[in-house]
Amino acid sequence: MKNFWQRLKKPFLVLAPMEGVTDFVFREIVATELPKPHVMMTEFTNVESLMSKGFEKTIIRFKFSEKQRPIIAQIWGMNPENYYKSAKLITKLGFDGIDINMGCPVREVFKMGVCSALINNRPLAKEIIDSVKKGANGLPISIKIRIGIKEVVTEDWAGFLLEQKIEALIIHGRTVEQMSKVPADWNEIGKVVKLRNKISPETMIIGNGDVNSYEDAEEKHNKFGVDGVMIGRGIFHNPWVFEKGNKNHTPEEYKDVLIKHLNLYEKTYGDGRNYHIMKKFYKMYVNNFKGANQLRIKLMSTNNFKEAQEILS
Ligand SMILES: Cc1cc2nc3c(=O)[nH]c(=O)nc-3n(C[C@H](O)[C@H](O)[C@H](O)COP(=O)(O)O)c2cc1C
Repeated sequence: MKNFWQRLKKPFLVLAPMEGVTDFVFREIVATELPKPHVMMTEFTNVESLMSKGFEKTIIRFKFSEKQRPIIAQIWGMNPENYYKSAKLITKLGFDGIDINMGCPVREVFKMGVCSALINNRPLAKEIIDSVKKGANGLPISIKIRIGIKEVVTEDWAGFLLEQKIEALIIHGRTVEQMSKVPADWNEIGKVVKLRNKISPETMIIGNGDVNSYEDAEEKHNKFGVDGVMIGRGIFHNPWVFEKGNKNHTPEEYKDVLIKHLNLYEKTYGDGRNYHIMKKFYKMYVNNFKGANQLRIKLMSTNNFKEAQEILS
């Protein structure tokens, strides 16, 4: 039977996992109020926290709704046993897939020897993949990577992962050292497509880096042969980034989505998640229209939901 990745029409679009951004509320708003991508992912979630006293605080990251499907849980961490148990939990919760983060370049994470540092620890990378497979009970597994640490080693690293016969491989076309400072190298992503055709033709290849529109994603599909394209920061510049055709949206439409986002944020977390985290979305919705700057300044000075709701009413 085909897995869900294989059933998607190409090129398919994926909303990138973004810590502090793609939580339950934002995904719900994208799924119900904005043009919906074909696949969504949770923020990266630590398997050690899931399997410890931190569980209560962490499990909120795995809240999702039916409207967000297909929805993938992204995990990271150190201990293969915790990956195994987390994969079992994710399967039980009803997710459509599991993504293993092998791309995070954040220094503290890298120093722990996990995520992007796994490029240099193939035995542990393999053990993690095998553990997730064992716990996933047939649920499709994807891995998100960068193309190297200092040196570009795309084919070596991607080739090793393709040999593990995973269902999808997501390539962010930058090295760890490059962080987000240079343009993503799509030629390197294109090399993985060719490698896939030889090593693991069933694996879906998803390219990631600097894509800012539906049309751009189609172009990447045509030029580099990727099956899908993942978009992250593009949604900050344009909440309608997953819409076909570059349509204009009115300030009222922007404000309407923001109000819904704010209300759902309050309803979901109340005081359980810091109100100020919501502020990072103000620039996304209140931008590029007459009076936007003044409105944004007012919103940024608020200290709670009520103050913001009053300004927007
Ligand atoms: C605020 C922020 C948080 C991110 N958090 C994650 C994460 O939790 N997991 C992950 O795999 N990548 C994370 N990333 C990387 C993105 O998923 C993506 O690979 C990167 O932004 C490049 O794509 P883009 O050019 O379309 O933004 C994050 C990026 C940003 C900007």
